Amino acid sequence: MFSKNREPVTAILSGAGLRGREVYGRYALKHPDRLRFVAVADPDPARRLLFQKEHSIPDTMAFESWDVLMDRSRGRIADAAFVCTRDSMHYRPAAGALELGYDVVLEKPISPDLQECRQITRTAGEAGRFVQVCHVLRYTGFWKKVKEIVDSGRIGRIIHYDHSENVSYWHFGHSYVRGHYRNKSASSPLILAKACHDLDLMFWIFGEKPLTVQSAGELSFFHPGNAPPGAPERCTDGCPAAETCPWFAPRLYITAEPLLSIGLHAPSRLIRLFSRIALNHRSFLKILSRFDKRLDGILNWDRFPATVISSDLSVEGKMKALGEGPFGRCIFKCGNDVADHQVSTFTFPGGATGTLTVHGVSDLEGREIRIFGTKGTLRGYFRYNGEQITVTDLRFSRTDTVYQAGLSMGGHGGGDFGLMDSFVGSMRGAKTPNTGHTDVAGAMESHYMAFAAEDARVTHKKINMQEYR
Ligand SMILES: NC(=O)c1ccc[n+]([C@@H]2O[C@H](COP(=O)([O-])OP(=O)(O)OC[C@H]3O[C@@H](n4cnc5c(N)ncnc54)[C@H](O)[C@@H]3O)[C@@H](O)[C@H]2O)c1
Repeated sequence: MFSKNREPVTAILSGAGLRGREVYGRYALKHPDRLRFVAVADPDPARRLLFQKEHSIPDTMAFESWDVLMDRSRGRIADAAFVCTRDSMHYRPAAGALELGYDVVLEKPISPDLQECRQITRTAGEAGRFVQVCHVLRYTGFWKKVKEIVDSGRIGRIIHYDHSENVSYWHFGHSYVRGHYRNKSASSPLILAKACHDLDLMFWIFGEKPLTVQSAGELSFFHPGNAPPGAPERCTDGCPAAETCPWFAPRLYITAEPLLSIGLHAPSRLIRLFSRIALNHRSFLKILSRFDKRLDGILNWDRFPATVISSDLSVEGKMKALGEGPFGRCIFKCGNDVADHQVSTFTFPGGATGTLTVHGVSDLEGREIRIFGTKGTLRGYFRYNGEQITVTDLRFSRTDTVYQAGLSMGGHGGGDFGLMDSFVGSMRGAKTPNTGHTDVAGAMESHYMAFAAEDARVTHKKINMQEYR
């Protein structure tokens, strides 16, 4: 499939942001024999230019918007179109690309509007084009192993499936309170934006569509009622709670606190010790950095989430962004309206149940599952500090560790590149749609589950999924 002699799949990109540039762009740079971008659209001139430079795209193939790209290029100029714009801007570029005859890589969610999701699925079917929805977790070693064990019958029939998506306090604060996904109307409800991957996994692992859903949860913490006494509108305006608040913005964006908080849970004792010192004794770190320049990156963090707040990653540049932009606001005064925790319970044919918990106050980012079967119990964690799956046999009470992997700081535990490998493989195969992975028709179920769970949460009603579909 990846013979060096084959021509790479060619692609156009709409949205050279975190996903477009830093994930799919990086894949193309690492595997030029598999994927090559030939045109880019992004209204942000700095992002556009950076992508152009990295991929040697001429000015004539760089545009300020996806619609200009599709207009000016007059017809299909590559094999595939990547749609990596924000949630509410997925439908039109994806529909436009399908009309021009492109196969499409579409970031999740398909759309925050259920009718648009249905329409894209129909259009793809009518056009006979393949739409790869980026449910990246299915392509990881961890989740493939879970699926393999369940399908093998080793734990028997599933009676209950319990899945937690523990979003770390800093990530939730960054994305779902201060950032782009804080309002339902501008992006999507939490369960769609954050947990549609988890719902896709539940559906995939059960191998059946759910029958009903009930859901509870609300925005109970990140609102003005919980602001510390005397807290100003912005962290940069002299907050009296600066020392004790976990969401004090300069600490999150200037120092490497997100990284170091993961380091506190690292398997290596040395990394744990270093993280504790770096978090609590910054002046000592400053002295050490005179002898080892690598420590500068800890004193002034230059990766996610800092890259989102400003393109000027100097301390001054970031402080300016915090003083003026959305990411410096007091975490309790952000005008956010998405839930900060939610529990959804699904029933499946045969009486099995599945619960999904998603919340934003975890110390550590990651997912945890327990699957209770009639022959055994599967337990697993898929976290930034490592991955593990164990299976316990009910009759002999024997526990085997069947999967282990080390620290994975990004790339969704290998899922981002795994999805790309799968996409390139599909494009090089018979080019028929619906190759069985997360094509748009298959991804519809996770979206039905998310929309129905959100409706159930808001209306406090049990929803019949068959009627809902
Ligand atoms: N699959 C996953 O696991 C995963 C993870 C994170 C985000 N996402 C999804 O990926 C999508 C993109 O997220 P992101 O974090 O990369 O966002 P981002 O804001 O970093 O990137 C979006 C880019 O789109 C550009 N853009 C805006 N208007 C445009 C237009 N008219 N034409 C072309 N480009 C335009 C913006 O300038 C920006 O550079 C979102 O829908 C998000 O939900 C998926």
